Amino acid sequence: MHLTIPPFLLGLATAAAIQPRQSSPAPHSMGFIGCSMAENVAQGYTSLALSAKMWPPYGTNGLVVQSWTNTKSSSWQLFDRQVAKYGGSKPTEVWVMVCIFQNPGATYEEVKTMINNAREHAAPGAKIYVTGQPVYPDNPSSCFLAGASGPQATVDLAKRAGADAELNVTYPGEFKLMKGEVQDGCHANAAGQKSLGRQALDFWG
Ligand SMILES: *[C@@H]1O[C@H](CO)[C@@H](O)[C@H](O)[C@H]1NC(C)=O
Repeated sequence: MHLTIPPFLLGLATAAAIQPRQSSPAPHSMGFIGCSMAENVAQGYTSLALSAKMWPPYGTNGLVVQSWTNTKSSSWQLFDRQVAKYGGSKPTEVWVMVCIFQNPGATYEEVKTMINNAREHAAPGAKIYVTGQPVYPDNPSSCFLAGASGPQATVDLAKRAGADAELNVTYPGEFKLMKGEVQDGCHANAAGQKSLGRQALDFWG
């Protein structure tokens, strides 16, 4: 027997396939701060096109913890310009990626300041998430920019912040990049960006 699917049903199937998985959050309601590694995540997340919740990359390459510890820094001005671009509605969720260069690394005090600044630039009562930069499970010392133990150090700082009741932030888990997903030791290649995007979807929908 030959079955043909009426064209209107095909149309329905296609529409269903591109629906966001969860009730649609407001577009661009989730901001982020962090370096190029955060942009790699945002790139992948945006390319999956399941949700427009997270901001796309906005030029935070090289913006490690110390770029965010002064609430009036050029980095925060960049963040505020992004908010203005989305009609001035401050994000109701902000994800903070702790990124470091091997020297100077970062202190927990600096991470706390960065988080407090995120709260200041977000909507009142915003939910704040904190993660480390990605780790490299099958090649842990891969990222020369952060140093051999740098990525794990950022994860440890993020976990400590998540466990600190005073900060009221959530640590959702680790980002991971495997060997075939890395282009220069640190950054994600195209496959890595997709993988990071999927990991972000698992955390945040
Ligand atoms: C903690 O953060 C949540 C948002 O994640 C907010 O609703 C709540 O008011 C905050 N609690 C305190 C004590 O600031």
